[in-house]
Amino acid sequence: MAQEDVDKIFYNYSNNEALVEENRFLKETIENMQKELQRYKSTPLIACEVKELHGEQVLVRLPNGNEFLVEKSPECKDINAGEYALAEQKNLTLIKKIPSNKRFDVEKFVIIEKPKISWNKIGGLKQQEQEIKEVIELPLKNPKLFEKIGIDPPKGILLHGPPGTGKTILAKAVAASTHSTFIEVVGSELVQKFIGEGAKLVKEIFELAREKAPSIIFIDELDAIGATRVDIGTSGEREVQRTFMQLLSEIDGFSPLGNVKIIGCTNRKDILDTAITRPGRLDRLIEVPLPNEEAIKEIFKIHTAKMSLGKIDMTLLVEKMKELSGAEIKSIVTEAGYFAIRDKRNKIKEKDFLKAIEKVKQEEEDESYKKIFG
Ligand SMILES: Nc1ncnc2c1ncn2[C@@H]1O[C@H](COP(=O)(O)OP(=O)(O)OP(=O)(O)O)[C@@H](O)[C@H]1O
Ligand SMILES: [Mg+2]
Repeated sequence: MAQEDVDKIFYNYSNNEALVEENRFLKETIENMQKELQRYKSTPLIACEVKELHGEQVLVRLPNGNEFLVEKSPECKDINAGEYALAEQKNLTLIKKIPSNKRFDVEKFVIIEKPKISWNKIGGLKQQEQEIKEVIELPLKNPKLFEKIGIDPPKGILLHGPPGTGKTILAKAVAASTHSTFIEVVGSELVQKFIGEGAKLVKEIFELAREKAPSIIFIDELDAIGATRVDIGTSGEREVQRTFMQLLSEIDGFSPLGNVKIIGCTNRKDILDTAITRPGRLDRLIEVPLPNEEAIKEIFKIHTAKMSLGKIDMTLLVEKMKELSGAEIKSIVTEAGYFAIRDKRNKIKEKDFLKAIEKVKQEEEDESYKKIFG
C-alpha cells in the first residue's frame, strides 16, 4: 500500500474519531436541553399542610381551604401531621417535605440592598422629595420629635404615576439617606412564585424587615395584589385576596414610630382597593408625574453629566422630549452616546440626541402598537 493511502486511512480514521466525539457531544447537549425544556414545562407545586395520617394515605389541606386524601412519594414516607409538603397539581401526590423550621428562605424571594443613590441624582420631583423626607426620613431619624408633638407619622406612602418617572429611585434615595435596608418585593411575584404561600411570605418579609431595621419595604406593582376584585370565585383570586389581607394586617400590626416603613408603588392607582390607602395604612398618596420642561432639563443634565457635549440647542431638545419619562430621557442619552461611538467621536453632538429621540419615540410607538394589536 502506498504511503499516500495509509495517510488517507489514518486521516479518515482520526476524522471519524472526531465525528464520533462531536456526535456524542451533540447528543448530550440535546439531552440537556430536553431536560431543561421539561423543567420549564412542569407545573408549579402546591404547598399544603398535612392534617392527618391514614395509613399509606394522608389528609392534606390546600391553601384554598379544601381538604383531600392523597398519596405520598417515598420522600415523604415519614411525614407527620402539622408538617408542610409540596404536592403535585394534578393528583396532589406529596412530592417533598418542606422543612418546618424555615419553610422557605424569604431572602430568596426579595431583593435586599443598601442603596447609595443620592437625592441630587433625581431631576424635578422636588415637591415629592420634600414630602417623602417629611413622612419617611424625619420619623426614622427623629422619632422623639413626633412623640413630643404627639402625632403619628404615616406608616407608609403610596407612590403612583406613569412608568419610568422615578418612583423606584425616590424610594431608594430615602433608603440611602436614612441608611435603611431596602427590601424590594414585586406584587405579581408574591402570588405567582409559590402558590399558596403569598400570605406566609408577606408575614416573613415583615419579620425580615424588623430584623434588618431600620428598613424600608418597597412593594412594586402593588395593584397585582391590591386591586379591587369584583369576583373572588377562583382559588387563584382567593389566594391573592388572602395575601392582600395579610399585608393589611401586617401594616395594622406595627407601630408608626417603629423603624420599618412601607413604600407602595403602582401605575394603576385607579384599580387599587381603597382598603390599602385607609388612614393608618399607606395613607400618604404621592403622585409622580411625567416631567415638565424644567424637570426634563434637569434629568437630561443629570444623565449627561459625565459626557463631553458639543454645542446643543437645549430648548429644541426639551421641546422634542416633551411627554417622555425620566427613564426614556435616560435611554435617549445612552443611545446618543452609541451614535457617537459608531461615528468614532467622543463628543456627543446635537444630531446624536435628535436621532436618539426619534429612535426611542419609535420604540415606544412599536411597544404600544404591540400592546394593542399583539
Ligand atoms: N426624575 C428622574 N431623574 C433622574 N433619572 C430618572 C428620573 N426618572 C427616571 N429616571 C431614570 O429612569 C430609571 C427608571 O426610573 P424608575 O425605576 O425610578 O421608574 P419607576 O417610576 O419606578 O418606573 P416603573 O413604574 O416602570 O417601575 C432610573 O433608574 C433613572 O435612571
Ligand atoms: Mg419602579
